[in-house]
Amino acid sequence: MTRIGVATNLRLILLGPPGAGKGTQALLLKEQLEIEHVSSGDLFRHHLSNGTELGEIARGYMNQGALVPDEVTIGMVLGRVRSMPTGQGFMLDGFPRNTNQAEALDGALEQRGQKIDRAVHISVPDDELIRRLSNRYICRKCQKPFTRTPASGEPPKSCNECADGGEIYQRDDDTPYAVANRLIVYHQETAPVLDFYRDAGLLATIPGEGTVETVNKSVLAALGLTVEV
Ligand code: AP5
Ligand code: MG
Ligand code: ZN
Repeated sequence: MTRIGVATNLRLILLGPPGAGKGTQALLLKEQLEIEHVSSGDLFRHHLSNGTELGEIARGYMNQGALVPDEVTIGMVLGRVRSMPTGQGFMLDGFPRNTNQAEALDGALEQRGQKIDRAVHISVPDDELIRRLSNRYICRKCQKPFTRTPASGEPPKSCNECADGGEIYQRDDDTPYAVANRLIVYHQETAPVLDFYRDAGLLATIPGEGTVETVNKSVLAALGLTVEV
């Protein structure tokens, strides 16, 4: 992996529908840019695994493919942002998901004298998203996604990324019902967030089809960065 490391204080948002590849790209960018990855979905799944009260509140919403209420979500994500040193760059994945969350984020950053630098929207058609999510497995420990394909067959039983091999499982919200609902919620509630960042002159939309490496190059290009691999 080539480290670029010129953007360690970059504050970035990854936007896109469920299955667009936000988490996949974030794992690459975290290494390339040396910035923190803050995924609201991963934070919720961490709470679920640890049986916390917050996890119990989130579970029902997540399994239905609905948004967890803002009163719970905003505090959780902004708490994580506020805990970082001010010079530390980060990318938010899965947050903000409605305009109320986007405004709360702007307010929290303003208190730190900061702004978002770029919002990258990874665009993928719904039929491809449904195909990806019905064949996705993830690691319970590091959240790395794996895909079941006719060529690769079943995913491994344990993760090859974690030192002690996390269990590979299918997310409870990757059922056909929850996926359909997540897409409806995305188009109704999250699509306006694209306009929010477009109006602020921060939005870059890139195609999310093609190989993971191709999409990665497009994300870096949208940030004005290139990488030799
Ligand atoms: P969250 O965990 O954020 O899920 P999501 O947005 O639905 O997105 P996914 O994680 O499913 O997809 P992804 O874009 O990360 O794609 P991935 O890289 O895995 O949220 C889950 C739930 O938590 C929500 O429904 C809600 O209930 C709650 N929640 C979270 N944030 C919230 C918020 N802010 N407010 C309220 N509630 C919130 O890739 C998908 C698959 O495709 C993988 O198998 C991968 O290997 C494959 N893939 C990736 N790239 C490619 C490629 N280029 N070509 C082919 N396959 C690819
Ligand atoms: Mg994800
Ligand atoms: Zn793992």
